[in-house]
Amino acid sequence: MPNRLATFSLALATVLASAWLWMLSGAAAAAAGPPEYRQEVRERLAILGGSADGQPLRGSENGSSAVGQTPSKDYAGADSCVVCHEEKKNQLGPHGRAADPRTPMAGQGCETCHGPGKAHVDAGGDVSLIKNPKNLSTREVSATCTSCHNRGEHTFWEGSTHDRRQLTCTTCHSAHAPESVSGRLVKATQLELCSKCHRDKVAKLDRSGHMPVREGKLQCSNCHNMHGSQNVRLLRVGYSVNESCTSCHAEKRGPFLWEHAPVRENCATCHDPHGTANERLLVAKLPFLCQRCHAHTRHPATVYDSAVFQSSNRVYGRGCVNCHSAIHGSVHPAGMAFQR
Ligand code: HEC
Ligand code: HEC
Ligand code: HEC
Ligand code: HEC
Ligand code: HEC
Ligand code: HEC
Ligand code: HEC
Ligand code: HEC
Ligand code: HEC
Ligand code: HEC
Repeated sequence: MPNRLATFSLALATVLASAWLWMLSGAAAAAAGPPEYRQEVRERLAILGGSADGQPLRGSENGSSAVGQTPSKDYAGADSCVVCHEEKKNQLGPHGRAADPRTPMAGQGCETCHGPGKAHVDAGGDVSLIKNPKNLSTREVSATCTSCHNRGEHTFWEGSTHDRRQLTCTTCHSAHAPESVSGRLVKATQLELCSKCHRDKVAKLDRSGHMPVREGKLQCSNCHNMHGSQNVRLLRVGYSVNESCTSCHAEKRGPFLWEHAPVRENCATCHDPHGTANERLLVAKLPFLCQRCHAHTRHPATVYDSAVFQSSNRVYGRGCVNCHSAIHGSVHPAGMAFQR
């Protein structure tokens, strides 16, 4: 397990490092170019309907992105906004990096998200003439953000559980006043954020058997993609609960010569990944867990029908797993009863 953890962190570090290098090289290239570079990129984008990295322009499909559109007379430009809203300019984090042609500030500036603002400016700041995402419908906000964020992580947002239940990007993210160190969340940590609505799941972390989430080795987002997925329960990987679990616990994937039917079916039959009061995240204590299904076996499966209940080897230690230790499946020719 520690080995696998180390590999996991190493992989994570590599990904982070390459993302960082990629960002650096992007920023350097933009800074090295002539001043008219950005304007030129934008003009080209408008003609080609594509973005600077050669990918199709996000949002060009539904036209709701302002990036790449020819500025219209309804737009005032970011410089005029900051005359009155100066404090907003430095709150944008990565969105404010105008040197990166993919960001809002490289497009229509503030108006990429707030819509054309000339009327608002001319009226000296009439609030009825400008879009405030706080007052928009959830669909309108999502459409604004997914005009750019609609790939990778975000491919399956539309129709996802959170989308259907009227959450939107700004339920969890803040454009101007994030509280978290990473991800611009409206709460300081993921746990605080998710517990606004999933208190039961977060509370389970306090039970004795739990994934190392509260120790900071895992986050909700290691298993779930809050932005939508192809798996059940917004699980990040695969098409079933088992594929999600075995993406980390690969040794439980098999193939086994002798398969244990419930293991093959769904890990969550015996384990609650969020936490339980039993060891190994088991949903019930051994041997009672096994007895949920095994009442009649060659040897008495119930501890109660033994005349010598007090000394039944099925009650002590790891119960049935004292003998049936290869409970997830066996590769041994004689492992039919999962004893080896
Ligand atoms: C002449 C000054 C002025 C300029 C220029 C200006 N605003 Fe405003 N804006 C205001 C005032 C005043 C308010 C109302 C008070 C407040 O919320 O701070 C306001 C409010 C807003 C709001 C909140 C609306 C609401 O419903 O509460 C947004 C969003 C906004 N402005 C965006 C912009 C953008 C984008 C630009 C540039 C296109 C811009 N403003 C330019 C003065 C200005
Ligand atoms: C990435 C999209 C985005 C960009 C770019 C953006 N905003 Fe906003 N703005 C929002 C959202 C979303 C809100 C709602 C509050 C929040 O999430 O922080 C908001 C809220 C506001 C408000 C109202 C604040 C309130 O408390 O109600 C003002 C004023 C504002 N923005 C001005 C600006 C100005 C000026 C710029 C450019 C310097 C700008 N915004 C750029 C998305 C954006
Ligand atoms: C014009 C395109 C565009 C729009 C519109 C846009 N974003 Fe972004 N966003 C970006 C880019 C580019 C980045 C930086 C990504 C990177 O560096 O890989 C980013 C980064 C982010 C991040 C990650 C921040 C971090 O620190 O890791 C969040 C969260 C985010 N955007 C949320 C939103 C939300 C919410 C909205 C709608 C209110 C929105 N974005 C609208 C282009 C956009
Ligand atoms: C239920 C809460 C929730 C909702 C709704 C949500 N997000 Fe996120 N988002 C998160 C969390 C949690 C992270 C991970 C933050 C971290 O720790 O880095 C994240 C990460 C991100 C990132 C950075 C990761 C990346 O892809 O590069 C972006 C961008 C982003 N979200 C955009 C959006 C957009 C756009 C929407 C709306 C379509 C949205 N989010 C809706 C919770 C949410
Ligand atoms: C504003 C409330 C809210 C927040 C915050 C929120 N969720 Fe949800 N989430 C919901 C609702 C509503 C549902 C649907 C519940 C249902 O249908 O029973 C849901 C469902 C889910 C599901 C089950 C999906 C399915 O298809 O059954 C998962 C997993 C989930 N959320 C994870 C998260 C994670 C992780 C976070 C924190 C990053 C989070 N949620 C934050 C409201 C929220
Ligand atoms: C180790 C992986 C893992 C982690 C970490 C994890 N989950 Fe889950 N979660 C799952 C699996 C697997 C399911 C589906 C369980 C099932 O089908 O019985 C699930 C189901 C859910 C559901 C839907 C449950 C229902 O009853 O419909 C919600 C909501 C949820 N998780 C929220 C969270 C939150 C919030 C966190 C962070 C505190 C979190 N999860 C951390 C794996 C995980
Ligand atoms: C993102 C990786 C990841 C995923 C996905 C994952 N786990 Fe884990 N799991 C871990 C880590 C890390 C540990 C802690 C290992 C340690 O402390 O040695 C762990 C520990 C466990 C333990 C042992 C707990 C104990 O008390 O000894 C069980 C049981 C477990 N996971 C079951 C599951 C199940 C079932 C699923 C699918 C619902 C799952 N895991 C999905 C990473 C993951
Ligand atoms: C029939 C019930 C059952 C099912 C289904 C099940 N497990 Fe287990 N699992 C157990 C029992 C019992 C233990 C404790 C074994 C012990 O104490 O030696 C355990 C222990 C574990 C452990 C920690 C000890 C170890 O062997 O590493 C992990 C991790 C684990 N299971 C993952 C999974 C995964 C992944 C799945 C789905 C592929 C799964 N389990 C399905 C019963 C089950
Ligand atoms: C959700 C129901 C369920 C749970 C819980 C469960 N099993 Fe099973 N088990 C089965 C099924 C179904 C089979 C396949 C029976 C068959 O092929 O006739 C099986 C097969 C077995 C076999 C092999 C029997 C044979 O004849 O091939 C053993 C041994 C076994 N289980 C032990 C355990 C132990 C020990 C536990 C507790 C850790 C346990 N099981 C928990 C459903 C379950
Ligand atoms: C002292 C060791 C031991 C303990 C403890 C034990 N078993 Fe067994 N079990 C065996 C042996 C030996 C076999 C026969 C294997 C064979 O026939 O090859 C067996 C066979 C089985 C079988 C398959 C045979 C059949 O009749 O279908 C099941 C199912 C089973 N045990 C379930 C359980 C359950 C449930 C528990 C806990 C209540 C348990 N066992 C505790 C040793 C043990």
